[in-house]
Amino acid sequence: LRDSFVPRAVKQNQRSICCVRPQASSYKVAILGAAGGIGQPLSLLIKMSPLVSALHLYDIANVKGVAADISHCNTPSQVLDFTGASELANCLKGVDVVVIPAGVPRKPGMTRDDLFNINASIVKSLVEAVADNCPEAFIHIISNPVNSTVPIAAEVLKQKGVYDPKKLFGVTTLDVVRANTFVAQKKNLKLIDVDVPVVGGHAGITILPLLSKTKPSVSFTNEEVEELTVRIQNAGTEVVEAKAGAGSATLSMAYAAARFVESSLRALDGDADVYECAFIQSELTELPFFASRVKMGKKGIEAVISADLQGLTEYEAKALEALKPELKASIEKGVAFANKQP
Ligand code: NAI
Repeated sequence: LRDSFVPRAVKQNQRSICCVRPQASSYKVAILGAAGGIGQPLSLLIKMSPLVSALHLYDIANVKGVAADISHCNTPSQVLDFTGASELANCLKGVDVVVIPAGVPRKPGMTRDDLFNINASIVKSLVEAVADNCPEAFIHIISNPVNSTVPIAAEVLKQKGVYDPKKLFGVTTLDVVRANTFVAQKKNLKLIDVDVPVVGGHAGITILPLLSKTKPSVSFTNEEVEELTVRIQNAGTEVVEAKAGAGSATLSMAYAAARFVESSLRALDGDADVYECAFIQSELTELPFFASRVKMGKKGIEAVISADLQGLTEYEAKALEALKPELKASIEKGVAFANKQP
């Protein structure tokens, strides 16, 4: 599982470290919204990780059966289930990584922002509990609109006096996974080799794949850049429409989120070369939050990779400017929501 998540270039750097370190299964991971379309396959994938000692599955309903089912897999982690707000604190105590896919998904015709009214409150209340029970944990926000829910989480953590911007991540890994897949298909490359940084945010035009920074180095015509960029930006909608009312991306999202969890655990475990894209508090642009590649370590984000934004093509530079007003508005909407009086 672990090998399949990591591009080859990254793996080669890590191999020497991985070989000498015994694979102790010592980390606790909580999934909030574990009975949902993303939560279930994500729980299964995380159950396969050798680095996890305990998997805490939380939802407002239907999580007992999911936990019973997954607990029969003969991998090291112990699986525990927690139902409803009264069990949330116990779910979170002592946890190293909290993953939040709780909330409603899109239906055809909806934008991610249409989910704001419901998901903003869900994320706010869950992050309050995280602040109270495991303030040191890495927090992975999957619930949409990520461009607003991450700023909400930051404000909640600030209000509770426990905000560490190095440990709060909006999960944009699916944009990278999609970009890697579509570019490899288009250019007949081996998937394992391809790595495309995706920056900006996680909705429509705010998703900006930097195709000029693709590894291995590959050239694209203007038409290919336009076609790939638009497909990557609309890939979520492609799935929403294909599912025709039955939800949004769940399986590929679970795969992407499991990769991000695995990267976080490797970082916590001391691996020195862990790089992922994520939507984070940022000084890379004038916007307070921005998705970019980061280097992850034991204490969270160790460095933001600013080089990706240097030497952009004209197309990318224009797209970067074009996304800023929408991303700014989504961030401000989240901040305003978190700070409004109850
Ligand atoms: P789903 O409806 O299948 O599952 C959501 C789960 O959250 C349900 O089990 C529900 O009971 C639970 N839930 C609702 N309120 C809760 C609360 N207060 N506490 C704990 N659990 C609660 O939805 P699905 O498909 O799993 O999507 C979840 C979220 O992930 C959506 O907001 C969706 O837009 C987002 N998403 C994000 C992506 C990304 O790239 N970041 C990609 C795809 C989806």
